Amino acid sequence: EKGGYPHFMLKEIMEQPEAFRKAVFPRIKDGRVVLEDLHITPEYIRNIQKIDIIACGSSYHVGMVGKYNLERLLRKSVEVVLASEFRYCDPLVDEHTLVIVISQSGETLDTMAAMREAKRLGARTLSIVNVVGSSIAKESDDVLYTWAGPEIAVATTKAYSTQLAVLDLVGLYFADLLGTIEAEEYCAIVEEMLCLPAKMEEVLKKTEDVQYFASRYFNHASVFFIGRNLDYALGLEGSLKLKEISYIHSEAYASGELKHGTISLIEPGTLVVALGTYAPLFDKAMSNVVEVKARGAEVLALTTDSFREKMEKTADSVLCIPDTHRMLQPSLGVLPLQLFSYYVALQRGCDIDKPRNLAKSVTVE
Ligand code: F6R
Repeated sequence: EKGGYPHFMLKEIMEQPEAFRKAVFPRIKDGRVVLEDLHITPEYIRNIQKIDIIACGSSYHVGMVGKYNLERLLRKSVEVVLASEFRYCDPLVDEHTLVIVISQSGETLDTMAAMREAKRLGARTLSIVNVVGSSIAKESDDVLYTWAGPEIAVATTKAYSTQLAVLDLVGLYFADLLGTIEAEEYCAIVEEMLCLPAKMEEVLKKTEDVQYFASRYFNHASVFFIGRNLDYALGLEGSLKLKEISYIHSEAYASGELKHGTISLIEPGTLVVALGTYAPLFDKAMSNVVEVKARGAEVLALTTDSFREKMEKTADSVLCIPDTHRMLQPSLGVLPLQLFSYYVALQRGCDIDKPRNLAKSVTVE
């Protein structure tokens, strides 16, 4: 049932191009995003004052990427709130708030409770869910399914990718309606979305580099992921993946925060995964690499083909992904990070599909 793969996690990592196609392609018609399953009216969308994204774990990390993308596309304030915090923080939500709820299982208790609270306060709820007919899907005002198929491994991979894809579609759809995006950029993003599965396949076909770096670094006791903007959001997910299945202590920081405390932890040999895939801030990413190198860190960098040469001059090891529209770069960037966690966990002999203490669906508080 693992389709010839040793673990469900690897199978599901490899299924991502196809899952992305299923989630996205039927929702693009003649170069336009069409979300026929939505009941929300254009008038409601125009009157939205702010958007809250509510989720837990990796789904929350999708929300972090979404915040950067939606704010840029819609010029509206977007907050990402952990469901377990939202339900107890007396949230500022009313009928002009759209609450986007993200959940693979559709059964996460905190997320469900937060959604109910948002509804009680008058917000409209739109869920992005994988499991068809799940509680969150049924109770939300609107649901967009991710159509990723069953996800068995506890660590999410294809659900993350399809949630992200669907959230990007929502951003494009709303931006088009609100007139907050130039026609040219809209077309460029849609076109790139259609190219993404092929680019994902390209990344997933060449796993030797990731395997090699995993065999080189699997013995580190602690790892720091750093990045800015979308790379920061991506780092959060890379760090969670690594710690949950390999049990290596890892943390993700916005690179600009290094100087405010974390850099004191960098000593000779400390592994830093430096994310430099977000083109507009590549130079800043580079200067952070220089900074941690100066303290003796071992740097494994992730960047895009067009920045490979520059990165190779400074980082110890470099992983590369194809270039795409900057907003979509995390959809490619997450793949080597998932693979890295997988191969590190494999080297360490961990129970990859069923990491200790974790459950696939968290239905208790
Ligand atoms: C991490 C992971 C968890 C889930 C979280 C939310 O790999 O799978 O962090 O993302 O428990 O679950 P859902 O999306 O089902 O609400």
